Amino acid sequence: MKNVPPKSKAQQIGDLKKKVAEYPTTHRSDLNNFGILGCISFIVALAINSPSSVNFAEGGFGHFLGSLLIVQLILFVFYKDIKRYKPVYYSDRKMMILLAILVVGTLIMNRFFSYFLAAVQRGSDLSGDAFMYGIPIAAGAMLITLIFDFHLAISFSFVMSLISGIWMQSPHFAVYTFVGSLTAAFAVLRCRRRSTLVRAGLYVCAANLLTVAIILLLKGQFLSEQALASVLFSLFSGLCVIAIVTSVLPIIEYSFQLRTDISLVELLDHDQELLRMLMLNAPGTYHHSVIVGNLAEAAAEAIGVNPLMARVTAYYHDIGKAKMPEYFVENLAGAVNKHEKLTPHMSSIILISHVKEGLELARQYKLPKPVLDVIQQHHGTSLMTYFYQKALEQAGGTPPNHEEFRYPGPRPQTRIAALVMMADAVEAATRSLAEATPARIEALVEKIINNIFLDGQIDECELTLKDLSKIKDSFIHVLLSIFHRRIQYPDVDMRQFAGRQEAPRTDRDRGTQTNGSSGKESAKIC
Ligand SMILES: [Fe+2]
Ligand SMILES: [Fe+2]
Repeated sequence: MKNVPPKSKAQQIGDLKKKVAEYPTTHRSDLNNFGILGCISFIVALAINSPSSVNFAEGGFGHFLGSLLIVQLILFVFYKDIKRYKPVYYSDRKMMILLAILVVGTLIMNRFFSYFLAAVQRGSDLSGDAFMYGIPIAAGAMLITLIFDFHLAISFSFVMSLISGIWMQSPHFAVYTFVGSLTAAFAVLRCRRRSTLVRAGLYVCAANLLTVAIILLLKGQFLSEQALASVLFSLFSGLCVIAIVTSVLPIIEYSFQLRTDISLVELLDHDQELLRMLMLNAPGTYHHSVIVGNLAEAAAEAIGVNPLMARVTAYYHDIGKAKMPEYFVENLAGAVNKHEKLTPHMSSIILISHVKEGLELARQYKLPKPVLDVIQQHHGTSLMTYFYQKALEQAGGTPPNHEEFRYPGPRPQTRIAALVMMADAVEAATRSLAEATPARIEALVEKIINNIFLDGQIDECELTLKDLSKIKDSFIHVLLSIFHRRIQYPDVDMRQFAGRQEAPRTDRDRGTQTNGSSGKESAKIC
């Protein structure tokens, strides 16, 4: 190891000066963000300071500056948290703008609520600060969970509770806000229906009620005249959370072209025009997509990505096949294979076209971006082995250019796109199994995923080897439940029961499932 001579003081000062001089160019985006953060902090400080409290003539300037600096500090920590732990949102300008709007919007909206509630309290001749429990500040955390994720909602709740505590100059209100916001975030953790929002709001009511009761006990006001008002205001807050979230969420979804889990579920509805078209035009592809959806959802759950998004993208990944269904093997159902009359090169062009057609349909029906990405990336740059092999045989010795038999890509860029690619390949391959025994299924899944990996198709997404192992296990589990063994029932001649009063009337009476068409019947083991 080389001994590096220690730098002199002059050299150290020179290095420091150089770093300071270079900072504006090397950290341009950080400086821009600090500027935006400063503006946001200023608006928030204005929102949490009433005009009367910012009386500059009576030293209110110091109060305003103090709250501005504290808000800036809190938001700076929040910004650092997002930058470090949520790079997906940090790199997405649209999402960062939305987050800033939600931070500022939550506080401004609640400022108006505080004016209204304070007026109500004054109208009822009640003194004190009971009105503040009616402020529906938990709506912000609920929206953050629905639009972003739970981790961000926790950080957001923390930020909001600190700022609210400064706003009301009450540590009790900070605790009240934190408990309400966390409850709101928890209550919509797996929210897939709009009706769940009502239940979540009721949970917020219960949490608010409990927190207010504890605060009243703490302040020795449990039996005071303020207690009833505080309880009523806290219930009002929960109900307002329901009203705000149900009305604001669709506006945000529409304006920012976002899909929350609630609207994703709507895409799984079989009455969706595109899904119906696939079901009617290409029933084989539709069935294939449903199985791919099952596989992708289970694997997504195993590796910690959004399982609902995985299912939705899988349902639509082959939507382009609805345009020319007869050229895809799953829709042939015994009909003549049209590729027999085509050259392998022409067949490969038709196969590639289902990606382009799918993208066009997805854009026409305004499907979300992750669905478009999966449609475009689900074959990556993989080789159409069947047609390449056919071309190789026809070429008579000269191997054709394999690039002409590859999909144009790009390769999967997200974990969901990679999941759908693997689920797609595995589902198609298992159809070719003459006898789907557990050993064969396991070997096939292993082989398909290894081939995809070795071909470099998942090099551009963030899947780890550990993820791949989990994906294989979940695929095998789902496929084994699809291809589970069946036991054979003995032949029973139903004519022997004819005319007998005690003869069983229906399948259910016998506790078995039959297809009613042949004597040979099967029933599920489990
Ligand atoms: Fe496809
Ligand atoms: Fe497919």
